[in-house]
Amino acid sequence: MNDLTAAKNKSLILSDVVKTYVMGTEKVHALRGVSINITRNEYVAIMGPSGSGKSTLMNVIGCLDVPTSGEYFLAGEPVAMMSESQLAETRNRMIGFVFQTFNLIPRADVFHNVEMPLIYGGMSRPERRARTEHAIERVGLTDRMHHKPNELSGGQRQRVAIARALVYEPSLILADEPTGNLDSKTGDEIMAMFDELHAAGQTIVVVTHEDYIAEHALRTIRLKDGLIEQDERHDKRRTQFTLPGAEPSEAHSAAGLESA
Ligand SMILES: Nc1ncnc2c1ncn2[C@@H]1O[C@H](COP(=O)(O)OP(=O)(O)O)[C@@H](O)[C@H]1O
Ligand SMILES: [Mg+2]
Repeated sequence: MNDLTAAKNKSLILSDVVKTYVMGTEKVHALRGVSINITRNEYVAIMGPSGSGKSTLMNVIGCLDVPTSGEYFLAGEPVAMMSESQLAETRNRMIGFVFQTFNLIPRADVFHNVEMPLIYGGMSRPERRARTEHAIERVGLTDRMHHKPNELSGGQRQRVAIARALVYEPSLILADEPTGNLDSKTGDEIMAMFDELHAAGQTIVVVTHEDYIAEHALRTIRLKDGLIEQDERHDKRRTQFTLPGAEPSEAHSAAGLESA
């Protein structure tokens, strides 16, 4: 466990990663030599047009797929050397996934959805429970703990998915279009939550094709035709994000004074 904690502090390194899909006699060059180094507590947006290789890159980073060639080190470990079961374990413990479609289990309540990644880890029941409740608390859903997904709003469902991603305290949160199924106000709320997690030390990689989502990150990597077109660090372009309900108050108070 100490080794794992130490490993979690190391970075993620992709070196000249190529991914080629073979379809019959045709080859699709999804990634054509991608090198990226992401260190702890970075906040990265991966952008690019449809077909540029974003999802392929996410799958490689998330250990859901292996490169055709090139190297990938996750927390100091060469992913190519891992067995299937080591890969599954790495995925489960080190990476928290958040998907556009939430991917919750409909019959399970919030608690059990969030607890799920811990079930296979041989952790004691009381520890599972403590960790699960803590993760649910972090996303502000303690009062919805025993609700089923269909009793929740879209934004709440995505927060459940974020709690599930957090429950193992992963070294990396990997989100593929996490706001793609949400209205823009709810999307902002979810991004504000990622901002908070980042401020608390979490490393985050988010795939998006929307500029206003990417603006939350501090680094943008743009893909084009399976290659990195641009990789730049930047400040948040919008300085402040307001949570729903927190209206900018000046206009209101001015109006209030007038009528008083
Ligand atoms: N499993 C697959 N088999 C064959 N081709 C694929 C597969 N997955 C992706 N591709 C192809 O690889 C390229 C990159 O796809 P993808 O990574 O999904 O791009 P993006 O997420 O940026 O839209 C596309 O040309 C796509 O058709
Ligand atoms: Mg995609």
